[in-house]
Amino acid sequence: MCASLRSKHYHNRVPAASDTLRPPSPPSPSGWVARLRTYHAFLHNLIGVVSQRFETLGDIYYVPNADGGLYVIRHPEQIREVLITNAHCYAKTHSAFIRLGRVLGQGLLNTDGEVWRLHRRMIQPTFYKERLHVYSHMMVQEATDMIERWRDGRQIDLGAELTRLTLRIVSRSLFSHEVGDDMDAITGAVTVLQDSFSRPDLLPRWVPSPQRRKARRALRSIDEVMYRLIALRRNGTGSDTVHESGETADLLQRLIDARDEEGDRAGLSDKEIRDQLVTFFIAGHETTSHALTWIFYLLSQHPDITAKLNDEIERVLRGRPPRFEDFDALPYTEQIVKESMRLYPPVFAIARKAIADSHIGGYFVPAGSEVGIWTYMAHHDPRWFPRPEVFDPARFTDPESLQRMKNAYLPFGLGARTCIGKTFATIEAVLLLATVAQRYRLSLVPNHPIALKPRVTLMPKFGMKMIVHTR
Ligand code: HEM
Repeated sequence: MCASLRSKHYHNRVPAASDTLRPPSPPSPSGWVARLRTYHAFLHNLIGVVSQRFETLGDIYYVPNADGGLYVIRHPEQIREVLITNAHCYAKTHSAFIRLGRVLGQGLLNTDGEVWRLHRRMIQPTFYKERLHVYSHMMVQEATDMIERWRDGRQIDLGAELTRLTLRIVSRSLFSHEVGDDMDAITGAVTVLQDSFSRPDLLPRWVPSPQRRKARRALRSIDEVMYRLIALRRNGTGSDTVHESGETADLLQRLIDARDEEGDRAGLSDKEIRDQLVTFFIAGHETTSHALTWIFYLLSQHPDITAKLNDEIERVLRGRPPRFEDFDALPYTEQIVKESMRLYPPVFAIARKAIADSHIGGYFVPAGSEVGIWTYMAHHDPRWFPRPEVFDPARFTDPESLQRMKNAYLPFGLGARTCIGKTFATIEAVLLLATVAQRYRLSLVPNHPIALKPRVTLMPKFGMKMIVHTR
Protein backbone atom coordinates (compact mmCIF):
# COMPACT_ATOMS: atom_id res chain seq x y z
CA MET A 1 0.00 0.00 0.00
CA CYS A 2 1.20 3.52 -0.75
CA ALA A 3 1.86 5.95 2.11
CA SER A 4 -0.81 8.27 3.49
CA LEU A 5 -0.56 12.01 4.09
CA ARG A 6 -2.92 13.98 6.28
CA SER A 7 -3.33 17.70 6.56
CA LYS A 8 -5.31 20.03 8.77
CA HIS A 9 -5.62 22.51 5.90
CA TYR A 10 -8.09 20.56 3.76
CA HIS A 11 -11.63 21.82 3.47
CA ASN A 12 -13.02 18.36 4.03
CA ARG A 13 -13.20 16.68 7.37
CA VAL A 14 -10.13 14.40 7.56
CA PRO A 15 -11.43 10.90 8.24
CA ALA A 16 -10.40 8.67 11.12
CA ALA A 17 -8.38 5.58 10.36
CA SER A 18 -11.35 3.94 8.70
CA ASP A 19 -10.47 2.81 5.18
CA THR A 20 -14.09 2.48 4.21
CA LEU A 21 -14.89 6.17 4.56
CA ARG A 22 -15.25 7.93 1.23
CA PRO A 23 -15.09 11.62 0.40
CA PRO A 24 -18.52 13.24 -0.05
CA SER A 25 -20.30 12.59 -3.34
CA PRO A 26 -22.58 14.81 -5.39
CA PRO A 27 -26.20 13.61 -5.43
CA SER A 28 -26.62 11.06 -8.21
CA PRO A 29 -29.36 12.01 -10.66
CA SER A 30 -32.34 9.69 -10.47
CA GLY A 31 -34.34 8.98 -13.60
CA TRP A 32 -33.62 9.65 -17.27
CA VAL A 33 -34.60 13.30 -17.27
CA ALA A 34 -32.26 14.17 -14.40
CA ARG A 35 -29.48 12.10 -15.98
CA LEU A 36 -29.90 13.87 -19.30
CA ARG A 37 -29.87 17.23 -17.53
CA THR A 38 -26.60 16.37 -15.74
CA TYR A 39 -25.07 15.14 -18.99
CA HIS A 40 -26.09 18.35 -20.75
CA ALA A 41 -24.61 20.45 -17.92
CA PHE A 42 -21.31 18.52 -18.16
CA LEU A 43 -21.15 18.96 -21.89
CA HIS A 44 -21.93 22.66 -21.92
CA ASN A 45 -20.69 23.90 -18.55
CA LEU A 46 -18.10 21.41 -17.27
CA ILE A 47 -16.07 24.01 -15.40
CA GLY A 48 -19.17 25.51 -13.77
CA VAL A 49 -20.43 22.11 -12.62
CA VAL A 50 -17.08 20.97 -11.19
CA SER A 51 -16.52 24.35 -9.52
CA GLN A 52 -19.95 24.14 -7.87
CA ARG A 53 -19.21 20.62 -6.63
CA PHE A 54 -15.96 21.70 -5.00
CA GLU A 55 -17.75 24.63 -3.35
CA THR A 56 -20.38 22.41 -1.80
CA LEU A 57 -18.39 19.22 -1.14
CA GLY A 58 -14.90 20.51 -0.24
CA ASP A 59 -11.43 19.90 -1.68
CA ILE A 60 -12.03 16.26 -2.59
CA TYR A 61 -15.13 14.46 -3.77
CA TYR A 62 -16.01 11.01 -5.03
CA VAL A 63 -18.11 10.03 -8.02
CA PRO A 64 -19.08 6.35 -8.30
CA ASN A 65 -18.70 5.24 -11.93
CA ALA A 66 -18.19 2.18 -14.10
CA ASP A 67 -14.40 2.75 -14.22
CA GLY A 68 -13.79 1.95 -10.54
CA GLY A 69 -14.94 5.26 -9.03
CA LEU A 70 -13.48 8.73 -9.51
CA TYR A 71 -11.75 10.90 -6.87
CA VAL A 72 -11.75 14.55 -7.90
CA ILE A 73 -9.19 16.86 -6.28
CA ARG A 74 -7.90 20.46 -6.36
CA HIS A 75 -5.83 20.94 -3.16
CA PRO A 76 -2.05 21.39 -3.73
CA GLU A 77 -1.12 18.92 -0.96
CA GLN A 78 -3.39 16.25 -2.44
CA ILE A 79 -2.07 17.03 -5.92
CA ARG A 80 1.45 16.52 -4.56
CA GLU A 81 0.43 13.16 -3.08
CA VAL A 82 -0.80 11.88 -6.44
CA LEU A 83 1.80 13.37 -8.79
CA ILE A 84 4.92 13.30 -6.59
CA THR A 85 4.90 11.51 -3.22
CA ASN A 86 2.81 8.51 -4.23
CA ALA A 87 3.25 8.82 -7.99
CA HIS A 88 4.30 5.14 -8.17
CA CYS A 89 0.75 4.17 -7.11
CA TYR A 90 -0.75 5.81 -10.22
CA ALA A 91 -0.57 5.22 -13.96
CA LYS A 92 -1.83 6.69 -17.21
CA THR A 93 -4.36 3.92 -17.73
CA HIS A 94 -7.20 6.35 -16.92
CA SER A 95 -10.07 6.12 -19.42
CA ALA A 96 -9.15 9.60 -20.79
CA PHE A 97 -5.69 8.36 -21.80
CA ILE A 98 -7.19 5.20 -23.31
CA ARG A 99 -9.32 7.46 -25.53
CA LEU A 100 -6.27 9.57 -26.42
CA GLY A 101 -4.43 6.36 -27.24
CA ARG A 102 -6.79 5.68 -30.18
CA VAL A 103 -5.02 8.49 -32.02
CA LEU A 104 -1.67 8.75 -30.25
CA GLY A 105 -1.01 5.02 -29.94
CA GLN A 106 1.64 4.24 -27.32
CA GLY A 107 3.67 7.46 -27.23
CA LEU A 108 5.48 9.13 -24.36
CA LEU A 109 2.31 10.79 -23.05
CA ASN A 110 0.36 7.64 -22.29
CA THR A 111 2.80 4.82 -21.59
CA ASP A 112 4.02 3.81 -18.12
CA GLY A 113 6.73 1.90 -16.34
CA GLU A 114 9.94 0.72 -17.99
CA VAL A 115 8.83 1.51 -21.56
CA TRP A 116 8.08 5.12 -20.58
CA ARG A 117 11.35 5.48 -18.61
CA LEU A 118 13.41 4.15 -21.51
CA HIS A 119 11.72 6.38 -24.06
CA ARG A 120 11.86 9.49 -21.87
CA ARG A 121 15.62 8.99 -21.39
CA MET A 122 16.08 8.47 -25.12
CA ILE A 123 14.06 11.57 -26.08
CA GLN A 124 15.24 13.98 -23.38
CA PRO A 125 18.44 15.16 -25.20
CA THR A 126 16.19 16.57 -27.96
CA PHE A 127 15.29 19.27 -25.40
CA TYR A 128 18.81 20.10 -24.19
CA LYS A 129 19.87 23.74 -24.17
CA GLU A 130 21.98 23.51 -27.36
CA ARG A 131 18.96 22.23 -29.27
CA LEU A 132 16.64 24.89 -27.82
CA HIS A 133 19.11 27.47 -29.07
CA VAL A 134 18.65 26.19 -32.63
CA TYR A 135 14.87 25.88 -32.27
CA SER A 136 14.62 29.50 -31.02
CA HIS A 137 15.98 30.74 -34.30
CA MET A 138 13.29 28.82 -36.24
CA MET A 139 10.58 30.03 -33.85
CA VAL A 140 11.36 33.70 -34.51
CA GLN A 141 11.81 33.07 -38.24
CA GLU A 142 8.40 31.38 -38.53
CA ALA A 143 6.67 34.07 -36.42
CA THR A 144 8.22 36.79 -38.58
CA ASP A 145 6.95 35.04 -41.73
CA MET A 146 3.46 34.91 -40.21
CA ILE A 147 3.28 38.60 -39.34
CA GLU A 148 4.77 39.61 -42.70
CA ARG A 149 1.43 38.45 -44.16
CA TRP A 150 -0.66 40.52 -41.72
CA ARG A 151 -1.99 43.92 -42.79
CA ASP A 152 -2.96 46.87 -40.62
CA GLY A 153 -6.69 46.87 -39.83
CA ARG A 154 -7.28 43.29 -41.08
CA GLN A 155 -9.34 40.79 -39.15
CA ILE A 156 -7.69 37.44 -38.39
CA ASP A 157 -8.72 34.13 -36.89
CA LEU A 158 -5.96 34.19 -34.28
CA GLY A 159 -6.42 30.57 -33.15
CA ALA A 160 -6.02 29.28 -36.72
CA GLU A 161 -2.95 31.48 -37.36
CA LEU A 162 -1.26 30.28 -34.17
CA THR A 163 -2.13 26.63 -34.78
CA ARG A 164 -0.41 26.75 -38.17
CA LEU A 165 2.56 28.62 -36.68
CA THR A 166 3.16 26.29 -33.73
CA LEU A 167 2.71 23.22 -35.92
CA ARG A 168 5.28 24.50 -38.42
CA ILE A 169 7.68 25.18 -35.54
CA VAL A 170 7.38 21.77 -33.89
CA SER A 171 7.64 20.02 -37.23
CA ARG A 172 10.79 21.86 -38.30
CA SER A 173 12.41 21.66 -34.85
CA LEU A 174 11.84 18.03 -33.96
CA PHE A 175 11.54 16.40 -37.38
CA SER A 176 13.31 18.82 -39.75
CA HIS A 177 10.14 18.67 -41.81
CA GLU A 178 8.36 21.51 -43.63
CA VAL A 179 4.80 20.65 -42.75
CA GLY A 180 3.25 22.17 -45.92
CA ASP A 181 0.50 19.98 -47.35
CA ASP A 182 0.48 17.72 -44.26
CA MET A 183 -1.08 20.47 -42.16
CA ASP A 184 -4.64 19.24 -42.80
CA ALA A 185 -3.86 15.64 -41.88
CA ILE A 186 -2.40 16.68 -38.54
CA THR A 187 -5.03 19.24 -37.60
CA GLY A 188 -7.68 16.68 -38.71
CA ALA A 189 -6.33 14.19 -36.16
CA VAL A 190 -6.54 16.87 -33.47
CA THR A 191 -10.18 17.51 -34.37
CA VAL A 192 -10.91 13.80 -33.98
CA LEU A 193 -9.28 13.84 -30.55
CA GLN A 194 -11.22 16.91 -29.41
CA ASP A 195 -14.48 15.47 -30.82
CA SER A 196 -14.00 12.20 -28.98
CA PHE A 197 -14.14 14.19 -25.76
CA SER A 198 -17.23 16.15 -26.82
CA ARG A 199 -19.65 13.32 -27.45
CA PRO A 200 -19.85 9.89 -25.88
CA ASP A 201 -19.70 7.06 -28.43
CA LEU A 202 -22.56 4.91 -27.21
CA LEU A 203 -23.05 2.75 -30.33
CA PRO A 204 -21.72 -0.84 -30.55
CA ARG A 205 -18.19 -1.04 -32.01
CA TRP A 206 -19.32 -2.45 -35.39
CA VAL A 207 -21.75 0.38 -36.23
CA PRO A 208 -20.22 2.60 -38.99
CA SER A 209 -21.50 5.98 -37.74
CA PRO A 210 -20.49 9.19 -39.63
CA GLN A 211 -18.42 10.22 -36.59
CA ARG A 212 -16.44 6.97 -36.77
CA ARG A 213 -15.99 7.15 -40.53
CA LYS A 214 -14.59 10.68 -40.14
CA ALA A 215 -12.29 9.51 -37.35
CA ARG A 216 -11.03 6.57 -39.42
CA ARG A 217 -10.34 8.81 -42.44
CA ALA A 218 -8.43 11.29 -40.24
CA LEU A 219 -6.38 8.48 -38.69
CA ARG A 220 -5.57 7.07 -42.13
CA SER A 221 -4.28 10.43 -43.33
CA ILE A 222 -2.14 11.10 -40.29
CA ASP A 223 -0.71 7.56 -40.49
CA GLU A 224 0.14 8.10 -44.12
CA VAL A 225 2.06 11.29 -43.29
CA MET A 226 3.94 9.69 -40.38
CA TYR A 227 4.91 6.47 -42.17
CA ARG A 228 6.05 8.50 -45.18
CA LEU A 229 8.30 10.61 -42.95
CA ILE A 230 9.76 7.49 -41.34
CA ALA A 231 10.36 5.76 -44.68
CA LEU A 232 12.08 8.83 -46.14
CA ARG A 233 14.41 9.09 -43.18
CA ARG A 234 15.15 5.36 -43.08
CA ASN A 235 16.07 5.56 -46.78
CA GLY A 236 18.31 8.47 -45.99
CA THR A 237 16.35 10.86 -48.22
CA GLY A 238 14.46 12.79 -45.50
CA SER A 239 16.55 15.77 -44.41
CA ASP A 240 17.86 16.39 -40.93
CA THR A 241 19.07 19.67 -39.49
CA VAL A 242 22.83 20.00 -39.52
CA HIS A 243 24.06 22.08 -36.62
CA GLU A 244 27.18 24.18 -36.28
CA SER A 245 28.45 21.60 -33.78
CA GLY A 246 28.13 18.96 -36.48
CA GLU A 247 25.48 17.20 -34.38
CA THR A 248 22.59 16.10 -36.59
CA ALA A 249 20.20 14.03 -34.51
CA ASP A 250 16.74 15.54 -34.41
CA LEU A 251 13.98 13.61 -32.62
CA LEU A 252 13.10 11.52 -35.66
CA GLN A 253 16.73 10.50 -36.16
CA ARG A 254 17.11 9.65 -32.46
CA LEU A 255 14.09 7.36 -32.66
CA ILE A 256 15.39 5.68 -35.81
CA ASP A 257 18.91 5.21 -34.38
CA ALA A 258 17.73 4.04 -30.93
CA ARG A 259 18.90 0.55 -29.90
CA ASP A 260 17.96 -1.52 -26.87
CA GLU A 261 21.41 -1.47 -25.23
CA GLU A 262 20.44 -3.79 -22.37
CA GLY A 263 18.56 -6.28 -24.54
CA ASP A 264 18.99 -7.59 -28.08
CA ARG A 265 20.00 -4.19 -29.54
CA ALA A 266 16.78 -4.17 -31.55
CA GLY A 267 15.59 -0.83 -32.93
CA LEU A 268 12.12 0.69 -32.66
CA SER A 269 9.48 -0.56 -35.09
CA ASP A 270 7.81 1.83 -37.54
CA LYS A 271 4.66 1.65 -35.40
CA GLU A 272 6.57 2.62 -32.25
CA ILE A 273 8.17 5.57 -34.05
CA ARG A 274 4.81 6.57 -35.57
CA ASP A 275 3.27 6.73 -32.07
CA GLN A 276 6.00 9.05 -30.78
CA LEU A 277 5.77 11.21 -33.90
CA VAL A 278 2.00 11.67 -33.61
CA THR A 279 2.34 12.37 -29.87
CA PHE A 280 4.96 15.06 -30.40
CA PHE A 281 3.28 16.59 -33.43
CA ILE A 282 0.04 16.96 -31.47
CA ALA A 283 1.24 17.60 -27.88
CA GLY A 284 3.91 19.93 -29.26
CA HIS A 285 1.61 22.45 -30.97
CA GLU A 286 -2.00 22.34 -29.69
CA THR A 287 -1.25 23.45 -26.14
CA THR A 288 1.16 26.25 -27.09
CA SER A 289 -1.21 27.60 -29.69
CA HIS A 290 -4.06 27.81 -27.13
CA ALA A 291 -1.74 29.35 -24.55
CA LEU A 292 -0.76 32.10 -27.01
CA THR A 293 -4.35 32.68 -28.09
CA TRP A 294 -5.37 33.35 -24.47
CA ILE A 295 -2.28 35.54 -23.95
CA PHE A 296 -3.23 37.86 -26.83
CA TYR A 297 -6.84 37.92 -25.65
CA LEU A 298 -5.80 38.98 -22.12
CA LEU A 299 -3.43 41.63 -23.48
CA SER A 300 -6.23 43.04 -25.64
CA GLN A 301 -8.22 43.59 -22.42
CA HIS A 302 -5.34 45.09 -20.40
CA PRO A 303 -3.71 48.11 -22.11
CA ASP A 304 -1.70 48.92 -18.94
CA ILE A 305 -0.01 45.51 -18.98
CA THR A 306 0.49 45.74 -22.75
CA ALA A 307 2.26 49.08 -22.26
CA LYS A 308 4.66 47.55 -19.70
CA LEU A 309 5.29 44.64 -22.05
CA ASN A 310 6.09 47.01 -24.91
CA ASP A 311 8.47 48.99 -22.68
CA GLU A 312 10.42 45.85 -21.85
CA ILE A 313 10.55 44.65 -25.45
CA GLU A 314 11.72 48.04 -26.75
CA ARG A 315 14.34 48.45 -24.02
CA VAL A 316 15.80 44.97 -24.52
CA LEU A 317 15.48 44.43 -28.27
CA ARG A 318 15.74 48.00 -29.62
CA GLY A 319 13.82 47.01 -32.72
CA ARG A 320 15.74 43.85 -33.67
CA PRO A 321 14.18 40.36 -33.64
CA PRO A 322 14.45 38.46 -30.32
CA ARG A 323 17.02 35.68 -29.83
CA PHE A 324 17.50 32.77 -27.44
CA GLU A 325 19.99 34.87 -25.42
CA ASP A 326 17.30 37.53 -24.77
CA PHE A 327 15.11 35.16 -22.79
CA ASP A 328 16.54 36.07 -19.36
CA ALA A 329 16.31 39.77 -20.16
CA LEU A 330 12.54 39.52 -20.80
CA PRO A 331 11.21 38.62 -17.31
CA TYR A 332 7.97 40.61 -17.61
CA THR A 333 7.18 38.92 -20.93
CA GLU A 334 7.64 35.55 -19.22
CA GLN A 335 5.44 36.60 -16.28
CA ILE A 336 2.66 37.44 -18.74
CA VAL A 337 2.99 33.96 -20.24
CA LYS A 338 2.86 32.35 -16.78
CA GLU A 339 -0.08 34.40 -15.54
CA SER A 340 -2.07 33.71 -18.72
CA MET A 341 -1.50 29.98 -18.27
CA ARG A 342 -2.71 30.35 -14.68
CA LEU A 343 -6.01 31.90 -15.79
CA TYR A 344 -6.36 29.68 -18.87
CA PRO A 345 -4.30 26.51 -18.35
CA PRO A 346 -4.27 24.76 -21.76
CA VAL A 347 -4.22 21.39 -19.93
CA PHE A 348 -6.97 22.22 -17.47
CA ALA A 349 -7.07 18.81 -15.73
CA ILE A 350 -4.79 15.80 -15.34
CA ALA A 351 -5.97 12.20 -15.08
CA ARG A 352 -4.55 9.15 -13.33
CA LYS A 353 -5.60 5.62 -12.44
CA ALA A 354 -4.59 4.02 -9.11
CA ILE A 355 -2.62 0.83 -9.77
CA ALA A 356 -2.07 0.13 -6.05
CA ASP A 357 -4.08 0.91 -2.92
CA SER A 358 -3.26 4.42 -1.82
CA HIS A 359 -4.53 7.43 0.14
CA ILE A 360 -5.41 10.98 -0.85
CA GLY A 361 -5.97 13.55 1.88
CA GLY A 362 -6.31 10.71 4.37
CA TYR A 363 -9.02 8.96 2.33
CA PHE A 364 -8.41 5.40 1.22
CA VAL A 365 -8.15 5.06 -2.58
CA PRO A 366 -8.39 1.44 -3.71
CA ALA A 367 -6.42 0.20 -6.72
CA GLY A 368 -8.52 0.59 -9.87
CA SER A 369 -9.94 4.01 -8.88
CA GLU A 370 -9.58 6.99 -11.20
CA VAL A 371 -8.34 10.40 -10.11
CA GLY A 372 -9.13 13.76 -11.71
CA ILE A 373 -6.71 16.55 -10.77
CA TRP A 374 -8.26 19.93 -11.51
CA THR A 375 -5.43 22.28 -12.44
CA TYR A 376 -7.97 24.93 -13.46
CA MET A 377 -9.58 24.92 -9.99
CA ALA A 378 -6.22 25.08 -8.18
CA HIS A 379 -5.24 28.02 -10.40
CA HIS A 380 -8.44 29.90 -9.54
CA ASP A 381 -8.41 29.24 -5.79
CA PRO A 382 -8.17 32.46 -3.70
CA ARG A 383 -6.24 30.60 -0.97
CA TRP A 384 -3.21 30.34 -3.29
CA PHE A 385 -3.96 33.16 -5.74
CA PRO A 386 -5.61 36.15 -4.02
CA ARG A 387 -8.13 37.90 -6.32
CA PRO A 388 -7.86 34.90 -8.63
CA GLU A 389 -9.80 36.39 -11.53
CA VAL A 390 -7.44 39.38 -11.84
CA PHE A 391 -4.77 39.18 -14.56
CA ASP A 392 -1.70 40.15 -12.53
CA PRO A 393 1.68 39.07 -13.96
CA ALA A 394 3.42 40.56 -10.88
CA ARG A 395 2.26 37.52 -8.85
CA PHE A 396 5.26 35.72 -10.26
CA THR A 397 7.80 38.12 -8.72
CA ASP A 398 6.73 38.25 -5.08
CA PRO A 399 8.54 35.52 -3.02
CA GLU A 400 5.63 35.12 -0.58
CA SER A 401 3.20 34.69 -3.45
CA LEU A 402 5.53 32.17 -5.14
CA GLN A 403 5.73 30.16 -1.90
CA ARG A 404 1.92 30.16 -1.58
CA MET A 405 1.41 28.80 -5.10
CA LYS A 406 3.76 25.81 -4.66
CA ASN A 407 2.07 22.72 -6.15
CA ALA A 408 -1.01 24.91 -6.82
CA TYR A 409 0.47 26.20 -10.09
CA LEU A 410 0.95 23.32 -12.51
CA PRO A 411 0.30 24.24 -16.15
CA PHE A 412 2.94 21.67 -17.17
CA GLY A 413 2.02 19.06 -14.55
CA LEU A 414 4.27 18.01 -11.66
CA GLY A 415 6.68 15.22 -10.77
CA ALA A 416 8.35 12.73 -13.08
CA ARG A 417 5.61 13.05 -15.71
CA THR A 418 6.05 16.83 -16.04
CA CYS A 419 5.81 18.05 -19.63
CA ILE A 420 9.01 17.22 -21.50
CA GLY A 421 8.39 20.28 -23.70
CA LYS A 422 8.03 22.74 -20.78
CA THR A 423 11.16 24.79 -21.54
CA PHE A 424 10.61 24.52 -25.31
CA ALA A 425 7.04 25.85 -24.88
CA THR A 426 8.01 28.63 -22.48
CA ILE A 427 10.82 29.90 -24.71
CA GLU A 428 8.54 29.61 -27.72
CA ALA A 429 5.71 31.57 -26.06
CA VAL A 430 8.08 34.34 -24.88
CA LEU A 431 9.84 34.68 -28.26
CA LEU A 432 6.62 34.59 -30.30
CA LEU A 433 4.94 37.08 -28.00
CA ALA A 434 7.93 39.45 -28.26
CA THR A 435 8.09 39.07 -32.06
CA VAL A 436 4.39 39.83 -32.58
CA ALA A 437 4.05 42.54 -29.90
CA GLN A 438 7.01 44.41 -31.35
CA ARG A 439 5.12 45.01 -34.59
CA TYR A 440 1.41 44.70 -33.79
CA ARG A 441 -1.25 45.34 -31.20
CA LEU A 442 -4.24 42.97 -31.42
CA SER A 443 -7.76 43.99 -30.47
CA LEU A 444 -10.77 41.72 -30.10
CA VAL A 445 -13.39 42.11 -32.83
CA PRO A 446 -16.22 44.13 -31.19
CA ASN A 447 -18.88 41.91 -29.58
CA HIS A 448 -16.93 38.72 -30.28
CA PRO A 449 -18.17 36.34 -27.57
CA ILE A 450 -15.64 34.73 -25.21
CA ALA A 451 -16.41 31.46 -23.47
CA LEU A 452 -14.46 28.40 -22.41
CA LYS A 453 -14.50 25.10 -24.29
CA PRO A 454 -12.75 22.50 -22.15
CA ARG A 455 -12.17 19.40 -24.27
CA VAL A 456 -8.74 17.76 -24.37
CA THR A 457 -7.33 21.27 -24.03
CA LEU A 458 -8.93 24.56 -22.96
CA MET A 459 -10.06 26.37 -26.09
CA PRO A 460 -12.07 29.54 -26.72
CA LYS A 461 -15.55 28.24 -27.56
CA PHE A 462 -16.17 30.71 -30.39
CA GLY A 463 -12.60 31.02 -31.61
CA MET A 464 -10.66 34.28 -31.28
CA LYS A 465 -11.38 36.87 -33.95
CA MET A 466 -8.91 39.72 -33.67
CA ILE A 467 -7.98 42.88 -35.58
CA VAL A 468 -4.31 43.65 -36.13
CA HIS A 469 -3.02 47.21 -35.68
CA THR A 470 0.47 48.23 -36.73
CA ARG A 471 2.35 49.82 -33.80
C1 HEM B 1 2.01 25.67 -23.29
C2 HEM B 1 2.33 24.52 -23.79
C3 HEM B 1 2.22 23.19 -23.09
C4 HEM B 1 1.47 22.83 -22.01
C5 HEM B 1 0.51 23.70 -21.20
C6 HEM B 1 1.73 21.43 -21.75
C7 HEM B 1 1.17 20.72 -20.71
C8 HEM B 1 1.52 19.41 -20.39
C9 HEM B 1 1.11 18.71 -19.21
C10 HEM B 1 0.18 19.26 -18.12
C11 HEM B 1 1.66 17.48 -19.24
C12 HEM B 1 1.55 16.40 -18.17
C13 HEM B 1 0.37 15.48 -18.40
C14 HEM B 1 0.21 14.48 -17.27
O1 HEM B 1 0.84 14.57 -16.23
O2 HEM B 1 -0.62 13.58 -17.47
C15 HEM B 1 2.41 17.38 -20.47
C16 HEM B 1 3.11 16.26 -20.89
C17 HEM B 1 3.74 16.17 -22.09
N1 HEM B 1 3.95 17.19 -23.00
FE1 HEM B 1 3.38 19.10 -22.79
N2 HEM B 1 2.60 20.97 -22.70
C18 HEM B 1 2.94 22.01 -23.52
C19 HEM B 1 3.82 21.98 -24.58
C20 HEM B 1 4.47 20.85 -25.03
C21 HEM B 1 5.42 20.81 -26.12
C22 HEM B 1 5.89 22.04 -26.89
C23 HEM B 1 5.76 19.51 -26.29
C24 HEM B 1 6.72 18.89 -27.28
C25 HEM B 1 7.46 19.57 -28.10
C26 HEM B 1 5.03 18.73 -25.30
C27 HEM B 1 5.09 17.36 -25.18
C28 HEM B 1 4.63 16.67 -24.08
C29 HEM B 1 4.84 15.24 -23.88
C30 HEM B 1 5.50 14.28 -24.84
C31 HEM B 1 4.30 14.93 -22.61
C32 HEM B 1 4.36 13.59 -21.91
C33 HEM B 1 5.61 13.57 -21.04
C34 HEM B 1 5.80 12.31 -20.22
O3 HEM B 1 4.82 11.75 -19.72
O4 HEM B 1 6.96 11.92 -20.06
N3 HEM B 1 4.27 19.58 -24.56
N4 HEM B 1 2.33 18.58 -21.14
